[in-house]
Amino acid sequence: MLSVIESKISKLQQEFSNNGASDFTFDHSENNSAFSVDWNVNEVVLFAGDNLTSLKKLVMIEPGIVDLCYIDPPYNTGSNFIYSDNRKSPEIGLLGSHQAWIIFMLPRLVLAHELLKETGVLAISIDDYEFPYLKVLLDRIFGEKNFIGNIVVCRSKNGKGSKKNLASSHEYLLVYGKSNKTTLRGESDEDTLYDKEDVYGKYRVDGLFRKKGEGSLKTDRPSMAFPLYANLDTGEVSVDYRDGWAKILPKDSKGVDRRWLWGEATTRERVWQLYSSKNGVIYVKNYAGKEIGQKRRKIRTIWDDPSFYTERATNELTKIFGQKIFDTPKPIEFVKKIVDSMSDDKAVVLDFFAGSATTAHAIYELNKQNGSHRKCILMESLDDISSNHLAYSMGYKQMVDITISRLQYLKNEDRNFNFTVF
Ligand SMILES: C[S@@+](CC[C@H](N)C(=O)[O-])C[C@H]1O[C@@H](n2cnc3c(N)ncnc32)[C@H](O)[C@@H]1O
Repeated sequence: MLSVIESKISKLQQEFSNNGASDFTFDHSENNSAFSVDWNVNEVVLFAGDNLTSLKKLVMIEPGIVDLCYIDPPYNTGSNFIYSDNRKSPEIGLLGSHQAWIIFMLPRLVLAHELLKETGVLAISIDDYEFPYLKVLLDRIFGEKNFIGNIVVCRSKNGKGSKKNLASSHEYLLVYGKSNKTTLRGESDEDTLYDKEDVYGKYRVDGLFRKKGEGSLKTDRPSMAFPLYANLDTGEVSVDYRDGWAKILPKDSKGVDRRWLWGEATTRERVWQLYSSKNGVIYVKNYAGKEIGQKRRKIRTIWDDPSFYTERATNELTKIFGQKIFDTPKPIEFVKKIVDSMSDDKAVVLDFFAGSATTAHAIYELNKQNGSHRKCILMESLDDISSNHLAYSMGYKQMVDITISRLQYLKNEDRNFNFTVF
């Protein structure tokens, strides 16, 4: 299997590079037994070092263990961040100056693909600069048919001021499935307003009782086109005639005779679930779930929530570390939404550009709040922090020291939280 991965990487490198394939091999002689992880004890496992090496090791020990891989790679902005963010090549060829970044990401993404279960999901934060190049690379690695979608995430209210003509206030979350077996869990529907209440609980009316689409004509199921009677003041509905109530037939807005969703016997039994608008349109009541987080709906593709703004993440870090010691953290609530809506309660989540360990913090909070049992694998580099950076003066000498410090903070908050570092 390892040789298949080696040749896949080499083939893709030839496609994406003017210089052909570079050397990518697994070290078959390496003893990886020291890397076995006791998940019963640890909630988080951190691999310190170049993520290419760590990903290779993980593929050799446990391919196909990851349910969700969320990463927030360096966006290649050229900015002077605490970590290196400048991988540019000469502006030639199809990929222009983006080739170096793509070649850096390529083997890491192939290995991430190998680590995912058949039902696994990959979600990547990225901005406009590398987005189109990354999309093409991911289409080649995951297959175009496994592209699930692209979410626009607002990261500030007023936008960044660094561009001349536009104040960019968004970035993206690109989502792929490992195969057609992947299904996203969906976002929690609890926030959506249940604005009505009856003796059965809180509900909202958002689903028509008249059948739509295929097989919806009266002629398709004549026995399901019976009249209903509605009290237009109270919204009550009856299958039997009631004095003074309006008679309603399943006609659509164009006057076409259609049918109801249920037969007469079921409707009689569940008539308490029906609701009539003042205009005599019949809806099925949608009751709020009993357990928090149980009700789900399809994930929407625009996320504009102030708790996802970058300034929120900066405040969170300042609270934890006392100062802004990391340049580009993600907000906890944002990562919680990704994890909660794209993986189930027992998922193994991988973040191989861990930075300040927001992903671990998000999973810790979700586990606490929802009683879930997710596990988290982090990877972060041993790169030196420049001696003139604030973080260095606060005692952080290598990038991974920041990651460990956040994990230690969680441990100090809660002694039941455990992590291990390789
Ligand atoms: C954009 S930051 C991630 C921020 C993170 N999402 C957070 O909330 O703090 C990218 C991180 O990837 C790390 N990184 C870059 N290249 C790496 C490599 N080859 N191996 C491991 N980590 C790397 C950087 O040190 C940096 O911390």
